[in-house]
Amino acid sequence: MTDATPDPATLNLDPYWMPFTHNRYFKQHRPLDRLLVGAEGAYYTTSQGQTLFDGLSGLWCCGLGHRDRRIVEAVKNQLDVADYYPAFQVASPDSFRLAERIAKHAPGDLDHVFFTNSGSEAVDTALKIALAYHRLRGEASRTRFIGRERGYHGVGFGGISVGGMVANRKMFAPAMLNGVDHLPHTHNLSQMAFSQGMPEWGAHLADELERIVALHDASTIAAVIVEPMQGSVGVIIPPIGYLQKLREICTKHGILLIFDEVITGFGRMGDWFGAQAFGVTPDLITFAKGVNNGTVPMGGVIASKPIYDAFMTGPDYAVEFFHGYTYSAHALAVAAAHATLDILGSDDVPNRFTALGTLLADGVHSLRGEPNVIDIRNYAGAAAVELAPLPGKPGLRAIRLFEDALKRGLLVRFTGDTIALAPPVISTEAEIHRLVDTMREAIRAVA
Ligand SMILES: Cc1ncc(COP(=O)(O)O)c(C=O)c1O
Repeated sequence: MTDATPDPATLNLDPYWMPFTHNRYFKQHRPLDRLLVGAEGAYYTTSQGQTLFDGLSGLWCCGLGHRDRRIVEAVKNQLDVADYYPAFQVASPDSFRLAERIAKHAPGDLDHVFFTNSGSEAVDTALKIALAYHRLRGEASRTRFIGRERGYHGVGFGGISVGGMVANRKMFAPAMLNGVDHLPHTHNLSQMAFSQGMPEWGAHLADELERIVALHDASTIAAVIVEPMQGSVGVIIPPIGYLQKLREICTKHGILLIFDEVITGFGRMGDWFGAQAFGVTPDLITFAKGVNNGTVPMGGVIASKPIYDAFMTGPDYAVEFFHGYTYSAHALAVAAAHATLDILGSDDVPNRFTALGTLLADGVHSLRGEPNVIDIRNYAGAAAVELAPLPGKPGLRAIRLFEDALKRGLLVRFTGDTIALAPPVISTEAEIHRLVDTMREAIRAVA
């Protein structure tokens, strides 16, 4: 806290309309342990001077921990050179180099990168690329998108249309994209509760795509979009063979497959992308968050060579894709991303997420049998504990756990009654044990 920072106890909370937050509850309770004033390594500091272990790496974005000196220096150095370059018709060499580096780590022939500033923008960009791609190839009838129940693809109109979380959709129903259909989600407690890693049950749910294709006809479908692992809804791991089946069906019918890797990209799944971790290559990948460790807003889309090539037609002085953002490839975001990619490689981060995942899996699965725990899920650096809802009050038990864990020095995230865990890769063995012990104490405290 600096001298200029108002006293948290008298801070006016009213003007800030907080995103995805219970504003009235927050402002009535004035939780001083939820006012964050600093971040270092695997910890946040609250306005009360308490340290909180960062159990979700920010919002899944700071997987390397906070304020790694190498990223901090890169951003500071960039500010000494240039603050902003226009994004259209000019670019810095660093942006070209960054695209090249990201493409090098992407699977298959995904080798062209379009930069955005967030995951939501990345998703809407990918949907636009898919529509335009088909049109450019003379298949303008391919306009439908297929998402998945419980999917989260950000908050743009495209993203909520293909997304499958009802609270994010219902208010905006009249303004959503036309013709979107949804695959069933793959979470089934009776078949897969307490699975370790990828569930064995559920690959057959990908066959639903054949039913949807038969209903609408492939000639009307542009793309299928899924998160390889569903993060925001509470860590739903793909069943063994499920993503492979989706790939086969999409290929068979000429439908593009989009992996939304905003959470799964850049190491968390134990490989550079979920695509490699799960052994399936999509046609488009969306990314954000981990690309520069959450330091400066950045997102993007990685497109396969045939998709990019399809746009490269017409007179060569003409703009090929009428799309872009003022802050696409922002100089500070690019600098932070270069430093992040350096660290991902030099510090062997994807493999270290796998190692962390083994510790995390052993720890979280030891919570089985604790009061109200109805499921535990994990894959590499991600895990979740699902609690039975309080009768008639879905979500309240998780809020209570969240608040109790804060008092014990742990920051987690809840969705419904599921607690998601995704600690930074720098977490020590002792910190993972402490994370699990704190979860156990909090679960018991709210029973
Ligand atoms: C899979 C996925 N897609 C898109 C988004 C939206 O990203 P943003 O909040 O940066 O717009 C998220 C955010 O959590 C996400 O998890």
